[in-house]
Amino acid sequence: MTAVVRAEGLTKYYGRRRGLEDLTLEIRPGEIFGYLGPNGAGKTTTIRLLLDVIRPTRGHVRVLGAGSREAAVRARIGYLPGELALEGRERAADYLAFLGRVRGGVPAARIEALAERLDADLSVPMRKLSKGNKQKIGLIQAFMHEPDLLILDEPTGGLDPLVQQEFLTMVREVRASGRTVLMSSHVLAEVEHVSDRVGIVRAGRLVAVENVAALREKAMRRVELHFDAPVPAEAFADLPGVRELRVEGAGLRCTIDGRPDALVKAAARFTVVHLVSEEPDLEEIFLTYYSDEGRDDDRQEPA
Ligand SMILES: Nc1ncnc2c1ncn2[C@@H]1O[C@H](COP(=O)(O)OP(=O)(O)OP(=O)(O)O)[C@@H](O)[C@H]1O
Ligand SMILES: [Mg+2]
Repeated sequence: MTAVVRAEGLTKYYGRRRGLEDLTLEIRPGEIFGYLGPNGAGKTTTIRLLLDVIRPTRGHVRVLGAGSREAAVRARIGYLPGELALEGRERAADYLAFLGRVRGGVPAARIEALAERLDADLSVPMRKLSKGNKQKIGLIQAFMHEPDLLILDEPTGGLDPLVQQEFLTMVREVRASGRTVLMSSHVLAEVEHVSDRVGIVRAGRLVAVENVAALREKAMRRVELHFDAPVPAEAFADLPGVRELRVEGAGLRCTIDGRPDALVKAAARFTVVHLVSEEPDLEEIFLTYYSDEGRDDDRQEPA
């Protein structure tokens, strides 16, 4: 399978200031890739390099098997920039219709359907739209020509929770049709439920790429069980994956490392009246990648 995005040693310095250092990454067809990092990490720099809006200092990148400056490749990309400047006097509807014509024709009904889903008002002059409502127009133009690759720089910024959910549904539909999404975010929580893989960038360096499902399975989670009568602690001793076990009367608490299967089977011999399982805190796991590595004082290229 050919990669949709293939970056090799991709590096960008703004003068002596590091934007991105030695990024090697492949994004596969049909995946949703979450690109996470704090402010100034290099997310926008990466995205601009992929789109060939800026030129790399070193390294190279192929998008959809070619360079993204090629018109044929550009036409297959949908792009939402991080800093969206929609200041025109024209109505959003006219702006989108214009973009649709430039891109070789987008049915008006498709634009209207997207506007409906995102609850966007297309009759208002763009400069009068609020930040969140501009973001919706940005999303509509990114999705409307059904591109093979969507590159979205902080797509959920400014969207209210309901619209955010609808947007995530749209992203899942893109994947279901075999197309690919790269989206950046500051917050794992905004992308973890849709992303297949997540890459963490910090101070210009990709510090981790993780499969979200595998990570969730590996993660520790706290479990609490309550029975209808006291249970013997021995019944739960030495179960694989069960840690920090505490049995007190009819209550049991422990931490599960990996699958909860052994615990569930041991508990099934008694009458369980209540079960509490906390979702693993992936944010916490990811934050360990954020700590220490590549602090700001090491941002400059050695003189
Ligand atoms: N045009 C520029 N000139 C000089 N330095 C720049 C320029 N653009 C970005 N940088 C620097 O490159 C680094 C990466 O910036 P970038 O905008 O890629 O980060 P980001 O991850 O998108 O951050 P944010 O979450 O704030 O959008 C930062 O240190 C930034 O100051
Ligand atoms: Mg940015």
